[in-house]
Amino acid sequence: MSSSVNDVRLKRLAILISGNGSNLQAIIEAIQNQQLSAEIAVVVSNQPNAHGLQRARDAGLPTKLLKHQDYSNRVDYDQALINTIDHYQADLIIMAGFMRILGESFIDRYKNRIMNIHPSLLPKYKGLNTHAKAIAGGDSIHGASVHFVTNQLDAGPVIIQGIVPIHQNDTAERLQQRVHRIEHRIYPTAVKWFVEDRLTIKDKKVLLDNQQHSDQQLHINA
Ligand code: GRF
Repeated sequence: MSSSVNDVRLKRLAILISGNGSNLQAIIEAIQNQQLSAEIAVVVSNQPNAHGLQRARDAGLPTKLLKHQDYSNRVDYDQALINTIDHYQADLIIMAGFMRILGESFIDRYKNRIMNIHPSLLPKYKGLNTHAKAIAGGDSIHGASVHFVTNQLDAGPVIIQGIVPIHQNDTAERLQQRVHRIEHRIYPTAVKWFVEDRLTIKDKKVLLDNQQHSDQQLHINA
């Protein structure tokens, strides 16, 4: 069932979500607009009510619900995920607001083939509540990072960062909206670089076209 352009097999994406799925939507649209040449093989959610599932169905994509409550431990849950990903022959696993921590054996199995997006300029502000932390820290800039997933939470090598200003009197909500807008630009870009085989990792740094490239930082001033 895999599609092709000029007989070239498109790279297959498994996108993991738990909620709204606006980053999923950005990737769907990048493919529809032919900015990104890849195939979404499956969208997996651990939450039955995730709006992203509806977005996937609207786009005619295969979906799979894997409720974590149905599994007694993480190893079994990760195995169910592995079964799904391998069934759909995914080349790249994209965590897009997937609110589960993946186990070591899962991450090792797909080494350098799992991406995540985190709403901060890593290594700053790992974990939750990043927008409030950036405001409380008195920072003048904030943003989002797409990184490869390793066994250390939010600490894998960064592929691209989107940088936005923090304005005076910003609230966490307003800042979150600004960061979201830049997420929707940097995630499809990171995926595009991956499917075009332009990314390498050297000394725990991600290189684009074999160098640390200025395109790996995107600044938005509004
Ligand atoms: C994003 O803010 C992302 O940085 C974080 O989860 C959120 C997902 O948003 N990891 P959405 O579901 O893609 O709208």
